[in-house]
Amino acid sequence: MTNADKIESLHRLPWYSVDLPVKVKDGKGMIHADERRMLYTLARDYYSGAGRIVDGGAFFGTSSLSLGFGLKDRDYRKEPVIDAFDCFIIDEYSVKHYSKPAGWFRKKIKAGDNMRFIYERNIAPVAEYITIHEGDLLKAPWKSGPIEILFSDISKSWQLNDHIIKNWIAALIPETGILIQQDQVQEYHVWVAITMEILSDYFEVIDYTPYSSMVYRLKSEIPAQLLEKCMSANVTKDEMEHYYLRFLERFRRVGMGRYTGWHLGMVEAGLAVTYGLHIGDLDKARHTLRQCEEKFRHIPDTMCRCAAIWDTIGRG
Ligand SMILES: C[S@@+](CC[C@H](N)C(=O)[O-])C[C@H]1O[C@@H](n2cnc3c(N)ncnc32)[C@H](O)[C@@H]1O
Repeated sequence: MTNADKIESLHRLPWYSVDLPVKVKDGKGMIHADERRMLYTLARDYYSGAGRIVDGGAFFGTSSLSLGFGLKDRDYRKEPVIDAFDCFIIDEYSVKHYSKPAGWFRKKIKAGDNMRFIYERNIAPVAEYITIHEGDLLKAPWKSGPIEILFSDISKSWQLNDHIIKNWIAALIPETGILIQQDQVQEYHVWVAITMEILSDYFEVIDYTPYSSMVYRLKSEIPAQLLEKCMSANVTKDEMEHYYLRFLERFRRVGMGRYTGWHLGMVEAGLAVTYGLHIGDLDKARHTLRQCEEKFRHIPDTMCRCAAIWDTIGRG
């Protein structure tokens, strides 16, 4: 298959018509069935072996499992081409939300404990495809060459975003490299949207795969200077506003405007977060949040998210 054929096949969004292996479908984890389908399909039908596959933010293993089963189901040679990264320290939220049914962890586990044993248990059927990198990502410079599929579900701060740009995005293969920004469609991780707008001449939007993944193809090599421009220290407050507003416009058009409702609500609420928590303009943040509540008053999910932002920025 030529590169042009491969790219053409992506535009048909083949993942929506794929049946998942039961273990991938039922695996306990944070990503949605459509995201699992997308990762599985990319590994099974798109991946060429020209570079590595990165699973950034592995947690209990559903993203690794989706990618690994994609390789297994095409009978890919047994090599650890997937690099999975996580500190494997479980937090309060995950202990609370993932401990059911009782006994599933198979041992007592509390916030701050190591959860790598859960990851290893879950990915066992595809372990031969995976290299595990345990520890703080910020202390793990990338040294493994070109990346063909980059799944980023670990961009939880400006600092991590900087690391991802410098280490992983810089290694993405031009023309065929795929970047999945799983943190982008969510109101708090606004640095991802700002970065992707700065880089918008270099990336083609392929899909928004619910719940949170923006899927991109890298069209051509990104100049080092532009990557440097994306570093948090180099993004001005005016640029934050400009680029976030541009993403909002882009997201309204994604899927021909199909993703309205609570999907769009997350992105709209992100504008208030951008003003309030990153630009430091609380008046604009409150005004934006009021507008958001007005627009999304019939969408409970958005209203809950807005309430949480009010708690953070205060009503003034
Ligand atoms: C949203 S979860 C990933 C979900 C996973 N992709 C799935 O399929 O269920 C994000 C993960 O990032 C990890 N993480 C966050 N910050 C990190 C850091 N600085 N270094 C290493 N891992 C980190 C957390 O431990 C968590 O497991």
